[in-house]
Amino acid sequence: MPLMIKLNPITSHSQNLPYFVPKPVITSCLISSKFFMPSKFPSNYKLQADNLKKPFMPHGKVLVQNSHPIPQEKIEIFKSMETWVESNILTFLKPVEKCWQPQDFLPDASTDGFDEQVKELRRRANEIPDDYFVSLVGDMITEEALPTYQTLLNTSDGIRDETAASLNSWAIWNRAWTAEENRHGDLLNKYLYLCGKVDMKQVEKTIQYLIGSGMYVGIEKNPYLTFIYTSFQERATFISHGNTARLAMEHGDSKLAQICGIIAADEKRHELAYSKILEKLFEIDPDGTVVAFGEMMRKKITMPAHLMYDGHDPDIFDHFSAAAQRLGVYTANDYADILDFLVNRWKVKELTGLSAEGRKAQEYVCQLGPRIRRLEERAQVRSKEAPSIPFSWIFGREVKL
Ligand SMILES: [Fe+2]
Ligand SMILES: [Fe+2]
Repeated sequence: MPLMIKLNPITSHSQNLPYFVPKPVITSCLISSKFFMPSKFPSNYKLQADNLKKPFMPHGKVLVQNSHPIPQEKIEIFKSMETWVESNILTFLKPVEKCWQPQDFLPDASTDGFDEQVKELRRRANEIPDDYFVSLVGDMITEEALPTYQTLLNTSDGIRDETAASLNSWAIWNRAWTAEENRHGDLLNKYLYLCGKVDMKQVEKTIQYLIGSGMYVGIEKNPYLTFIYTSFQERATFISHGNTARLAMEHGDSKLAQICGIIAADEKRHELAYSKILEKLFEIDPDGTVVAFGEMMRKKITMPAHLMYDGHDPDIFDHFSAAAQRLGVYTANDYADILDFLVNRWKVKELTGLSAEGRKAQEYVCQLGPRIRRLEERAQVRSKEAPSIPFSWIFGREVKL
């Protein structure tokens, strides 16, 4: 079916979104990461004009990117943790033979019952509304941009996989974590293809654009920031997949609920591993770790798929995020809850003997959760008049933001 969407790039609805909805980031001319401020692309027109001249230039571009490597003695901390990682973090991985695979939750194409199983899957999917599918597609696209996340891990000093087959514990984790994650996008992609409710050509195009664009969330090769970011993100995906499972159940689809639930369980296990790394860093280097925590939260945890584009809507990431927030799949309050959860998990309030910079960061992260909730209450009042937007992923049908 041809796509009938005409969007005026100037008609952005971003101003209606809750403040927390992450924006594509660019930095202007600032070098110090202390002053990093996320901001919007200067002009979508400019991006489109650029791409006409250089067709292979990624659609989502971050024009100025900082590099802020950590000192050698900090890198040595990560090198010295290798044995600890082997006995405390690699244990969170599941042996491949014990892992679920996408086929366990999908119609079996090798059996005669395949047609019937697909019909049943589609019958259940017909009971589920469009806004749910927009949210699920956005989650699936985020999972499918996995090559970018492995790249991100391998940009970080002290933990990168130097050979692509390194037997260093950090590298073993990076590859095995990626291999576990790879099943998430596969399972959701295959389910969405079979359900017939979404325009897979548009969805696959969005994935291709996104992987081509990458991501930029201000980690700057710093492994402290990397693991704070991944601790936060794994919990965010645990919450969002958990909510899509709950909503699928409410729509009477226990099989889809099982699909989302089994992915959420993986995310939880990954969250436990990443937050344990941070727990150890707080033990070894409390001051440096709390300063990094403050730095990451000042930059805001920008979602990994922030450079998403579908070939039509330059604000599709904002629109998907707003739809997910409206549906209760992932909200500003979830963001604040994750932050508070991590503050408690890492006992940040109880840290003592910090430098002035450390105390400032400690105070900042401890009071940030309540501040976000207050701002969110005001944003909720503003967002009542949210528009409906056509999504190419569901054949141009409109969904309320
Ligand atoms: Fe995942
Ligand atoms: Fe994950």
